Amino acid sequence: MHWTKRIITTIASCALILFSGPWAQIAGGQTPPVKPGTRPSSSSSASMQDWWKNAVIYEIYPRSFQDSNGDGIGDLNGITDRLDYLRDLGVDAIWLTPVYPSPQVDFGYDISDYKNIDPQYGTLADFDRLVAEAGKRNIRIIMDMVMNHTSDKHEWFIQSQSSRDNPYRDWYMWHDGKGQTATDKGVPPNNWQSVFGHSAWQWDEKTRQYYYHKFYIQQPDLNWYNPKVHQAFEDILRFWLKRGVGGFRFDAITTLYEDPGMADEGVVMDKDGKPKINAYGDPQLDGSKTDNLPGLHPVMQEMRATSDEFNSNKFPGERVLIGETYLPNIEELKKMYGPVDKPEFQLPMDTQVGFINKLDVTAFRSKLIDAETHLSANIPLIVFDNHDNPRLDARYGDGVHDTEIERVISTILFASRGTSLFYYGDEIGMKTTPPTRKADVKDPIGVTGWPKEKGRDGERTPMQWNASKNAGFTTGTPWLPVPPNSATINVKAAEANPDSMLAWYKSLILLKKTNPAFEQGANLMLDTDNTKVLSWMRQAQGAPQVVVSVNFTADPQLVNLTASGAGLEPAHLKTLLKSPGGVDPVSLDRVALGPFGVYIGEVQ
Ligand code: NOJ
Repeated sequence: MHWTKRIITTIASCALILFSGPWAQIAGGQTPPVKPGTRPSSSSSASMQDWWKNAVIYEIYPRSFQDSNGDGIGDLNGITDRLDYLRDLGVDAIWLTPVYPSPQVDFGYDISDYKNIDPQYGTLADFDRLVAEAGKRNIRIIMDMVMNHTSDKHEWFIQSQSSRDNPYRDWYMWHDGKGQTATDKGVPPNNWQSVFGHSAWQWDEKTRQYYYHKFYIQQPDLNWYNPKVHQAFEDILRFWLKRGVGGFRFDAITTLYEDPGMADEGVVMDKDGKPKINAYGDPQLDGSKTDNLPGLHPVMQEMRATSDEFNSNKFPGERVLIGETYLPNIEELKKMYGPVDKPEFQLPMDTQVGFINKLDVTAFRSKLIDAETHLSANIPLIVFDNHDNPRLDARYGDGVHDTEIERVISTILFASRGTSLFYYGDEIGMKTTPPTRKADVKDPIGVTGWPKEKGRDGERTPMQWNASKNAGFTTGTPWLPVPPNSATINVKAAEANPDSMLAWYKSLILLKKTNPAFEQGANLMLDTDNTKVLSWMRQAQGAPQVVVSVNFTADPQLVNLTASGAGLEPAHLKTLLKSPGGVDPVSLDRVALGPFGVYIGEVQ
């Protein structure tokens, strides 16, 4: 078989790894040989400074991961107890959703003290132990940083609400009502809405003004036009950076600023020219005055400069800023990285790819091409799942092939260029389990929005460690019910099954960390007219090319990977990973895939 390679100059350096390393075991979909106490490490190219560039980040919802004291709520010591599991999975960093003291109205996203740990989760000493123990396993801890709002029980807001002339008054967004008089509160200043339903303005009888809250009433928005707010957060960042955190994930960053003109937002119309109505029964607004205003960029430049003060070439290396960046297009995403001389986020989330929410080959291809070609030298952060959205089964599954589809999604997650972020439990195929009765709902938006919006409990159920009554999560009563499917979907069962989702995740992560094309290679789409199978090639200077094909349909497919402008000719393929039951293709021009099948192979 004749073949050419566009870029490859030598494969000598990789041959050793390929033939004496873990590849034989990976081929055929077997569990890679990750020995207890070891982890797949990135190659020498990933220095301490740029550890995050081809990294694997694992999101933990601490309330639901592991309870260590029997109160039914997960905690920091529980996470520390599970670090070996995360090391063996190949995780480089853990993003912890908020563990600060909080009244827990929004389960931690309503913070009442930014420099402590909520007693439900432990103590600062427990936190320091977690950072230290994680560090021993080369895992960094990334904190959630909520700068858009505080809890209404935070001292700043208590002060602010106490009188109109309190020094903290202008730390929040206070405004008179429309038509307000000495005796009449009028109506809210404009039509702005809370993301969690209804007006974003809350009347305060004591000081007779409205305050703005983009999220719950108990989450008043901070006023970022006030420089003291900036200083307060720089100080908070330093507090945690000194404790050795690997960085921060910035919550709701696009809603930091509101337009001082205070004009109404536009109403989004449906195709019949009628206002679109959201799950809470409110007209859908266009977000033009409250979302993605340019002021957030200088703020993030300040936060990045603060974070960079702590960079060192010893663990934890460069501190990393991750953004919760739901944005309309790739151009807006690019801005989040900031100018070269005034950087902002290293890793703003590319939600363009992961939240397409349907298996549409053309849409995925186009968004992955965007990530490859429109972000300059920046690293995409690919993410499909988190604690705010139904899990993968509910957004991508068809109810019949959910497991196979989860393999498809995880392949895109780990085999695309960039850093991969995933949500606890995805690695064992945990499913969304929403409450069935309004009376059981814990997340307040599920109460406001029932039955259209059932809230986020369904994706926050306890981690399923084993088949025991509470799935090994707690010895007490779990704060959310443990799904009945934990009898079969759990870590212990997955560890015993070479074809499990867990084995699949480990294989993909090992490939990502050890295969030179995956570590550094560009993404080049193949077979680009195909609407049923998404195929791409990873190619790095001096390394064998690797092709990836994922079938987005329930029918078997045969693809020809030479059918594109990539310059590939029919060649032999060496299988690196394939769906259980998949076949080894004879040649690059005839790759056969089963229903929702995945194939990864090296061009020989
Ligand atoms: C985004 C967080 O992910 C979500 O859980 C939270 O409710 C809102 N921001 C408000 O902080």
